[in-house]
Amino acid sequence: MSLLNVREIGDPVLRSKAKEIDEVNKKTLTLIDNMFDTMYEEDGVGLAAPQVGILKRIAVVDIREGNKITLINPEIIAEEGKAIMEEGCLSIPGETGDVIRAEKIKVRTLNKEGKEIEFEAEGFEARAIQHEIDHLDGVLFVDKIVKIAE
Ligand code: NI
Repeated sequence: MSLLNVREIGDPVLRSKAKEIDEVNKKTLTLIDNMFDTMYEEDGVGLAAPQVGILKRIAVVDIREGNKITLINPEIIAEEGKAIMEEGCLSIPGETGDVIRAEKIKVRTLNKEGKEIEFEAEGFEARAIQHEIDHLDGVLFVDKIVKIAE
């Protein structure tokens, strides 16, 4: 197990666009394992490669319901509904805010064998996936915070 250093807001890597992976190789799989370890250690539910300083389109998600999700070159190919919920981010310690995201999504991604797969997600899991995919484009949740009238 090897823990990676999580970059914090202000680091330009978090605002850069990550590049697609050409091939899922041993190095990719080691990075994914280390990203899961780092995410669990930091008590997060998702982590994207740019957050550990690597500009590749890779992210991991686990909302602690027994479903480890690996995203490699992920794309959201369909979405449905809208939901608002408070979010935070390991790269923005101490800050939270309400963000509107799709309630249900369909995702196309490569799996760890390098094969293209599609799956559906909803609720908090769908939210976490959307948050992580945003990281791959240099977008942070603080860009999307909505203020709700009291
Ligand atoms: Ni984040």
